[in-house]
Amino acid sequence: MQDKPRTKAEVLARLKTALKNDERYKNGKIFCSMCTSPPLFAKEVHKLFLESNLGDKALFSGSSQLEKEVVATLAQLLHGKTAVGFLVSGGTEANLLAMLAARDQASTQTPEVILPESAHFSFHKICRLLKLKPVFARLDSNFRVDTDHVEQLLTKNTVAIVGTAGSAELGTVDPIDQLSVIATKNDVHLHVDAAFGGLVLPFIEYADNTLDFDFKLEGVRSITVDPHKMGMSTIPAGGILFRNNTYLKYLQTETPYLTEQTQYTFVGTRSAASVAATWAIFHLLGREGFKKTVKKCMQLTMFLASKLEKAGFEVLLRPTLNIVAFRYANSKMLADNLRRRGWFVSYVPRLDCIRVVIMPHSKRRHVVGLLRCINELQRQNV
Ligand SMILES: Cc1ncc(COP(=O)(O)O)c(C=O)c1O
Repeated sequence: MQDKPRTKAEVLARLKTALKNDERYKNGKIFCSMCTSPPLFAKEVHKLFLESNLGDKALFSGSSQLEKEVVATLAQLLHGKTAVGFLVSGGTEANLLAMLAARDQASTQTPEVILPESAHFSFHKICRLLKLKPVFARLDSNFRVDTDHVEQLLTKNTVAIVGTAGSAELGTVDPIDQLSVIATKNDVHLHVDAAFGGLVLPFIEYADNTLDFDFKLEGVRSITVDPHKMGMSTIPAGGILFRNNTYLKYLQTETPYLTEQTQYTFVGTRSAASVAATWAIFHLLGREGFKKTVKKCMQLTMFLASKLEKAGFEVLLRPTLNIVAFRYANSKMLADNLRRRGWFVSYVPRLDCIRVVIMPHSKRRHVVGLLRCINELQRQNV
């Protein structure tokens, strides 16, 4: 820190330089992120609640009520009649809380968790923190977890099975219905990581019910669902829901000097700003608005996948959610070259493919621009 105060103009000038170096969603070149630009109204609402701290609920009872209402909306969307939960810092914290509850409701001293090979990397951190042994189940030819293998991996030390509803890499949805049967039969905690898909799947009409993933399935005990991803809310807005309040005792911590005596989240001081923004978006858009946004994203996703296929690229699978994964002779080099030209896609080393996420900020003209650049690089063989 410098000794003398600076003027607002000086401070702002430096901040604006920093901001210039940030990419902007509205430029339409970000195809690697699961976050997006929130509606302007949500940003305005966010500002209204900047001082409100959900870590001290009795002081901020208005904000606390908004959190309850957001959780109730999520619970309703995910068929959780008795569900309870919290808005947390993101999918990582949500998954952490689920694993903590799963571990502590079991009695083993050497807890294990069965994860699909496609599980989000947050579980690697969580397993280290909670001293859970990760046991990886292989995927089938459609990149969904092989449920026979999950069953084989069960031991007396298994405290949880995790399924993903919208994997970060490919957007695949594991057969949660089958995992639910296995979990129920073996009385094991089934956690569904729907950080991404939890606010997409409820708004898509599927012909069959093999994509069921929520509390409709009796084995599902907890779900991660993040408003700061496809919920289009401001950051930080993750969500964790439990089937009922019996799981809360595993999360409870005493908070002696605060206005309330207990907390359940890992993060103590919690922003109510993104909670209020989430509340605003849910009310502003309603189911109809979400359906419309998701439909647009899915149409663009299918458009991109079919164009890539026509251009001779190997598209790894028909997209379930708004993610396209494809391969090129040298996918890493193509991703790097796209980035040099200002287009941000992800390279996935595990699958040696490029991943493109179509978010609400992605418009048709942006996708067309990306395709043009890909085709050019393909022609130049770089
Ligand atoms: C499926 C899934 N789970 C968990 C996470 C972690 O979420 P966060 O980055 O909000 O902690 C992500 C992030 O993309 C995700 O896609």
